Amino acid sequence: MSLYFKCPSCSKALISNGKTYRCENNHTYDQAKEGYVNLLLAQHKKSKNPGDNDEMIKSRQAFLNKGYYTSLSSTIVKIISSMDKGFNQNILDIGCGEGYYMHEIRKASSSKNLSLSGIDISKTAVKLAGKRKMDTLLSVSSAYDLPFFSNSFDTIVSVFSPVSASEIGRLLKSENSKIIMVGPAEEHLSGLTKHIYNEVLPHKGNYSVLDDEESFVLEEQIEIKKEITVKKEDILDLLRMTPYYWQTTVEIKEKILALEELKTTIHFYVRVYKKL
Ligand SMILES: C[S@@+](CC[C@H](N)C(=O)[O-])C[C@H]1O[C@@H](n2cnc3c(N)ncnc32)[C@H](O)[C@@H]1O
Ligand SMILES: [Zn+2]
Repeated sequence: MSLYFKCPSCSKALISNGKTYRCENNHTYDQAKEGYVNLLLAQHKKSKNPGDNDEMIKSRQAFLNKGYYTSLSSTIVKIISSMDKGFNQNILDIGCGEGYYMHEIRKASSSKNLSLSGIDISKTAVKLAGKRKMDTLLSVSSAYDLPFFSNSFDTIVSVFSPVSASEIGRLLKSENSKIIMVGPAEEHLSGLTKHIYNEVLPHKGNYSVLDDEESFVLEEQIEIKKEITVKKEDILDLLRMTPYYWQTTVEIKEKILALEELKTTIHFYVRVYKKL
């Protein structure tokens, strides 16, 4: 099934000529050289550069590319490969960031029927995802107003990103569609936070958005808990990709950056929901 972006101005389908997306009412959106399109209308932006800031995104890419979270990416890939449709399906990554998880899914499959789409509200993130050249439909958009038609996707993925239950419900096909939601578990990055806070409040995932809805049922929860040793040269990227860097003092940052290595637990819950 062909997948079309929906025009954010008039909701008609957008057709690309390779350079520009255009709807039948002649609204046009330029396709950037990295392949993505910016569908976030200026009047819908709450700030000039919404989403994670550029340093966070670049550091997250550098850190993820080193393979520290492969236990998570391989779990996501395994869940998809064991679905009835396997890799023959349309997948949307909401809050895809710089595209690491989509890239891992693409690398795991040679299926020509695998369609990957990603959206993020940060232009820098989507641009970096485009540079991965992984044959993905990419747009700068909000998770609360997704530029796709109803019943477009078989699976929606969200890793540590905000989601809207009504938008997910609208976009998923009615038959056998799934949502893979990843959030932090209680001990996630405890080896880092112990340097920053005396008492760490447990993280809250974004699951409650779906748990509160009767139209989604939790099918499976997989817990991933692992010890990792972050090399000295990667500690700054780890720190900068988290909100902690932006909340802590120069002294604490210097103390952490002076470590020879950083041992920490990584701890995730991967939840698979089914749309009823
Ligand atoms: C913690 S990051 C996770 C990125 C990616 N999923 C990953 O795990 O590498 C959260 C992402 O959500 C994006 N984001 C924040 N608010 C958003 C919104 N309203 N709509 C779409 N994306 C949003 C941020 O720009 C950021 O890239
Ligand atoms: Zn239009």
